Amino acid sequence: MASPELENILDHYRNPRNYGELLDADIRVKDSNPLCGDVVEMHIKVRDGVVEDIKFRGKGCAISQASASMLTERVRGMRLEDVKNIDRQQILDMLGIELSPVRLKCALLSLKVLKTGVYTYLGQIVERED
Ligand code: FES
Repeated sequence: MASPELENILDHYRNPRNYGELLDADIRVKDSNPLCGDVVEMHIKVRDGVVEDIKFRGKGCAISQASASMLTERVRGMRLEDVKNIDRQQILDMLGIELSPVRLKCALLSLKVLKTGVYTYLGQIVERED
């Protein structure tokens, strides 16, 4: 029988939370895992520096899509400045299973997408304030 952690991953894969798109998103970002071509796209609505709403969509393995689903749940309501500090260990803790180096890339794809979007957005704000 699968561990509770694995069951949780499969549940997020089969029933992804926050799946879809946000038409009025402030951040739209998409990237792929170069090893396999699998894709994660995120749409984020920002209000006062906080993730007000977030959706994702994509295609790929259970780890990559479940990781994206869990990450959207985690960051809703979080300050962008705090999102910047999420690290790989937090993603691994969130998934709760041992991962091979190849699977690590799957797990971290959503974090790469999220951070790219947030850094780009914050960069744009800095430029606008100049
Ligand atoms: Fe493509 Fe996992 S096999 S992201």
